[in-house]
Amino acid sequence: MDFKDILLTALESAVSEASGLTKQQLSDMLETPPNPEMGDFALPCFKLARSMRKAPPAIASELRDRLGDLEGFSRIEAAGGYLNFFTDKSAYARTVIVRALTEGDAYGSSDEGRGKNVCVEYSSINIAKPFGIHHITTTVLGNSLKRIYDHLGYHTISINHLGDWGTQFGKMVVAYNKWGDRERIENGDSMRELVALYVKFHEEAEKDPSLEDEARAAFHRIEMHEPEEWALFQWFKDVTLKDVARVYDMLGITFDSYNGESFYEDKMPAIIKELADKGISKLDKGMTIVDLSDYDMPPCIILKSDGSTIYATRDIAAAKYRKETYDFYKSLYVVAYQQNLHFRQFFKVLELMGYEWAKDCVHVNFGMISMEDMTFSTRKGNAIYLEDVLNAAIEKTLEIIKVKSPNLENKEEVARKVGIGALVFSVLYNGRIKDYTFSWDKSLNFDGETGPYAQYTYARSCSVLRKAAELYGEAETDIENIDFSVLCDPASAALLRAIDALPETIKQAAEKYEPYLISRGVIEICSCFNKFYYDNRIMDDDPAVSNARLALTKAASIAIRTGLFLVGLEAPEKM
Ligand code: ARG
Repeated sequence: MDFKDILLTALESAVSEASGLTKQQLSDMLETPPNPEMGDFALPCFKLARSMRKAPPAIASELRDRLGDLEGFSRIEAAGGYLNFFTDKSAYARTVIVRALTEGDAYGSSDEGRGKNVCVEYSSINIAKPFGIHHITTTVLGNSLKRIYDHLGYHTISINHLGDWGTQFGKMVVAYNKWGDRERIENGDSMRELVALYVKFHEEAEKDPSLEDEARAAFHRIEMHEPEEWALFQWFKDVTLKDVARVYDMLGITFDSYNGESFYEDKMPAIIKELADKGISKLDKGMTIVDLSDYDMPPCIILKSDGSTIYATRDIAAAKYRKETYDFYKSLYVVAYQQNLHFRQFFKVLELMGYEWAKDCVHVNFGMISMEDMTFSTRKGNAIYLEDVLNAAIEKTLEIIKVKSPNLENKEEVARKVGIGALVFSVLYNGRIKDYTFSWDKSLNFDGETGPYAQYTYARSCSVLRKAAELYGEAETDIENIDFSVLCDPASAALLRAIDALPETIKQAAEKYEPYLISRGVIEICSCFNKFYYDNRIMDDDPAVSNARLALTKAASIAIRTGLFLVGLEAPEKM
């Protein structure tokens, strides 16, 4: 039963002759009263005063009389200039629970995205560079957005736009040939070995600047696909991707494409020609640029004076390739706000090229992350590896679980889900644009607004359902025989509202690219569930009561699990 729709349809015909308002306009006017005692929906009648030529209180009572009895509503009240609607609590409980139970893991899904492709670019790591903590936000934010868009029926294409082009690969070739040890790199700590080579190159080049020339020559040989250098370059990529796969596995993240910067190398000449032919680019001190002074931006450099392409050129080619290949409805770039200007510039260049789809490219930017506990910062060097942080989270969680639940089986498995979840959830608990300081204590607090708290609540709901199954058998919930009027107490009603809010929250999260809205929705469901759990005996002596409360428990359980999945967390059934 769609209460809002029933209400709007009735209202539309009640106000129509006088005001000519549409359902959509009425829907925009509709408010949710601050406290449930004032109803579930309220229509402020002030805006109708002019067209209906009456004072708002008179309009409210006239509309109430015209509406009469409304299916799904127990009461309609005129109060001052407001018309307040009270949904029938049993009918509401029934609607919310039936939806959750029938949709299951698809709770809150929709088909709004049917037939539409959305590219989601995230993580976009750099080859032969540390996969550091600073990459966590793009990685988990992008993964969550992908899941959210999938849930809403879009077809998503997840892209890891590898940073795999540039003169640094010439340096890597030189360093490897001089000091590298294949064995150690492949069988040891691959990333640190590669990074160490890069660091060594710079140390040595300080003393012997001719190394820089060697590196430039080596990169040129990569550009020419000379077999030896090309093979090494590919090998650096393989080693890096194999290494980072461990982190992606831990996070449950996959990509449909790893086409990075190098992939676009052979697509550059066409772009450069197109820019010249369309009269968009020009020569400036030996460089090819697009002048953006009309838009208050510095020029977008296309070719350096030595004729080599840069980051922006490759992004222009990549955007066009994605449009041609995936015919996207939207193309998202989950990249830190430090690159705001870069995105504004190359989106503008696409627009100047005449691509109307430039407006469908979205830079989903986010703030910086730092660690409160800096003692954690690596043994050597200054990069904090994401893998180390994830492992530390698992270890710390294991310690907590050993104390909290000494008898739990698979403690390691649970610690993995909860430790990683704690980290992911904390990153996705605030608006993305804010800078964020990560704190172990806050993220691992089982009683705070955290991943572990949500997972713990989910496990609690599972445990209630398990006990019920032991007592009453595994029977499917028999909706027809549930007395929903049992669920009218304030705690149950609040829980129902929190569960009911999730589907709309998921849509909002997609629209604003803000998964934290879902994280907060999940916490709301959890705290309502815990209150419901403490206020009520779920397994009551009266089967009508326990059936209803169990059905609500199951609905809550489904909503929590679905919400957690959408922000990238696993939900253990026991904790
Ligand atoms: N690899 C880059 C970095 O780590 C991010 C790439 C962002 N994506 C893009 N299409 N420019 O900073």
